[in-house]
Formats: sequence, C-alpha cells, structure tokens
Amino acid sequence: MTDRPLEDLVLGLAEIDADHAASIALWKTARDAGPAAFPAALAAWVDHLEAHFDREEALMRRIAYKEIAHHEAEHRRVIAEGRGFVAQVAAGRTMMARAYAAEMVPDWFRRHVVMFDSEVARVARLAGVA
Ligand SMILES: [Fe+2]
Ligand SMILES: [Fe+2]
Repeated sequence: MTDRPLEDLVLGLAEIDADHAASIALWKTARDAGPAAFPAALAAWVDHLEAHFDREEALMRRIAYKEIAHHEAEHRRVIAEGRGFVAQVAAGRTMMARAYAAEMVPDWFRRHVVMFDSEVARVARLAGVA
C-alpha cells in the first residue's frame, strides 16, 4: 500500500470526511505529545474514534448497508485495542502505546478507510447521501 498522507484519503462524503479529518488531527496530537500530555491526548483520540464510529454505523443503518456487521465488528475491535492502550498508559506503561500511536494507527487508518469506509461512502452516494 502506498504511503500517501492520510489527509489525501478523502471519500467525497462530507459527514465521513469531517470525522476522518478530526481523527487524523487528534491522532497527530497524540503522536507528537510530550510525556505529560500523552495520556489525555491518547484518550481523546479513542473517545473521538468511538463517536466517529457511532456516526458511521448510524449512516450504514440509514442506507441499509449489507456489510454492517463485519464493519461494526472491526470498529469494536479497534476501540477495545485503543482502550487497552489508554489503560496501559494510565498504569504508567507507555512504550507499547507510543508504538501504537506512531506505527499502528496510521497503517490501520489507511487500511480501514480504503477497505471499509470507501465502500460505505460509495453505497451512500448511490443512495443519494451527500
Ligand atoms: Fe469505519
Ligand atoms: Fe471512518
């Protein structure tokens, strides 16, 4: 997969694109945070991600999206993973969470948008969602 900037992964659906832009900004804040700011920044990234996923799932229900169960399961997996890292950081263990923020998040985000969200956007546009 190419390494183009995450900001370039625009799907042409205002609602999803706005959430993705906010997710990217919060991820960068967490990635670049110093030790004092990192715990709250990581939690803010996961909190927003959960709200972003809820909105995406509501959209999928609105358009009767057929692959919703698979997509929702992936969302739940990622939230559980993120919450696990937030808990580790709260317990004073930051090394894995730092690697997660620096390495795993951007790879996952790119893959998720291309493999999951782009298809939702395509079907939503066909259903007349702007
Ligand atoms: Fe998604
Ligand atoms: Fe998304």
